[in-house]
Amino acid sequence: MAFSTTLLYHHLLILVLFILHAPSCPAAGGSWSILLSSIGIYGMHMQLLPNDCVVMYDHTDFGVSNISLPYGKCRSNSTDCSAHSVEYDVVSNTIRPLMVVTNVWCSLGTLMPDSRLVQTGGWVDGYRRVRVYKSCSTCDWKEIPNVLNQQRWYATNHLLPGGRQIIIGGRQAFNLEFYPKMSASENSPRFPFLVQTNDPNVENNLYPFLFLYLDGNLFIFANNPAILFNYSKNQVVKTYPTMPGGQPRNYPSTSSAVLLPLRLKKGTVESVEVLVCGGAPKGTFTNENNGRFDGALDTCGRIKISDPNPQWVMETMPLARVMGDMSLFPKGHVLIINGASAGIAGWELGRNPVLSPVTYRPDNKVGSRFEVENPSTKPRVYHSTTVLLRDGRVLVGGSNPHDKYVFTNELFPIELSLEAFSPSYLDSSSSSLRPMILSPKSKTKMRYGK
Ligand SMILES: *[C@@H]1O[C@H](CO)[C@@H](O)[C@H](O)[C@H]1NC(C)=O
Ligand SMILES: *[C@@H]1O[C@H](CO)[C@@H](O)[C@H](O)[C@H]1NC(C)=O
Ligand SMILES: *[C@@H]1O[C@H](CO)[C@@H](O)[C@H](O)[C@H]1NC(C)=O
Repeated sequence: MAFSTTLLYHHLLILVLFILHAPSCPAAGGSWSILLSSIGIYGMHMQLLPNDCVVMYDHTDFGVSNISLPYGKCRSNSTDCSAHSVEYDVVSNTIRPLMVVTNVWCSLGTLMPDSRLVQTGGWVDGYRRVRVYKSCSTCDWKEIPNVLNQQRWYATNHLLPGGRQIIIGGRQAFNLEFYPKMSASENSPRFPFLVQTNDPNVENNLYPFLFLYLDGNLFIFANNPAILFNYSKNQVVKTYPTMPGGQPRNYPSTSSAVLLPLRLKKGTVESVEVLVCGGAPKGTFTNENNGRFDGALDTCGRIKISDPNPQWVMETMPLARVMGDMSLFPKGHVLIINGASAGIAGWELGRNPVLSPVTYRPDNKVGSRFEVENPSTKPRVYHSTTVLLRDGRVLVGGSNPHDKYVFTNELFPIELSLEAFSPSYLDSSSSSLRPMILSPKSKTKMRYGK
């Protein structure tokens, strides 16, 4: 049969070409570059701002960082005159030190519709702070004391319709609150879900995962259970099944989660799905005390939260990972990056860094969704993070599993460098596929919305 002969011939040809041109690591893609060998701090937290700058911050009680505050400034009540926050300008590839006064360690924030980063909580002097950063060439942090009702350390924030943010949980804070407040007396309702999902020995429901659902309710995943929550009424609307295996997935069993790109059919949303990948199995925290570093979880759970009867579908990653980070690519793929394949989040508790990112293609068939990408040379374990940049590269920074700025010969020394991972869609071989602006010739005439 002519058809199958041709097909066979093609296969042979492809095979021959493949053998002739086989790269050293055939499945892998993407490339790495060091953008700056030291940004002075380590990027524990990073937020891309609408003007293409990235604000970063780490820890104010860790000792002297590797970058000074400008103009010989020092923080009040401190002999530490180094910066613990910087702004990175993507286009010029430069950094500028900023002054954050109170401790932003394990805090969180949300970019507001007016382009301010409103960041909340942190540790001790930062427990109840709100800090605002609006980017400009001379801008700096503004701090507002005693705003939050409760300490918010390891809490999660989400922007809500209407422009307020909700702040959920935090260590020893089994409640939630909003910012800005409707009134000075607006309280913090109890949130029993955080008590129910809390293992008092390990507390592995910190930094819960929040995603806003289409109807305005909030999807909340903590430890392993998940709910749909009406935050106006403080009422659980729906309880999702627990993920098979029942393993913990939130800090310190830190996994990562994304809301997958919404699937549209004839202009309406067909399905809404959440993907949760990796983590550290039950017992890891206790076993660490006996010097045993358990292997991380290699499973992902995916659930169609829009289904009337949603069920988790489990998949296996090519690499086990705890403390991973996720980014959504413009193509709708998911990047899973950073972290370790043994141990758990916390001081000195991670082992076997995973240097290779993995791409997950949600629309492929189960079994052909993951692809291992080219590795970095830098371990990025506890306190590392990533941000997808506007030009399609992924900014990768941070890592410091020590509770001080230690620059000496430690296992996984503090990582002050900033790297970029360029996924294979940025390869020059894809240049011909990229859209180009042919007209008008002068791009400076074009304005947003025109
Ligand atoms: C600290 O910064 C300087 C540049 O200002 C750099 O030469 C040095 O390598 C940095 N130290 C570390 C530990 O990265
Ligand atoms: C500095 O210390 C004084 C006295 O302990 C205290 O009243 C003040 O609030 C502190 N300032 C800051 C910015 O922490
Ligand atoms: C939450 O409950 C309130 C009060 O019953 C209701 O007005 C609101 O529509 C509900 N929100 C959602 C997203 O269903």
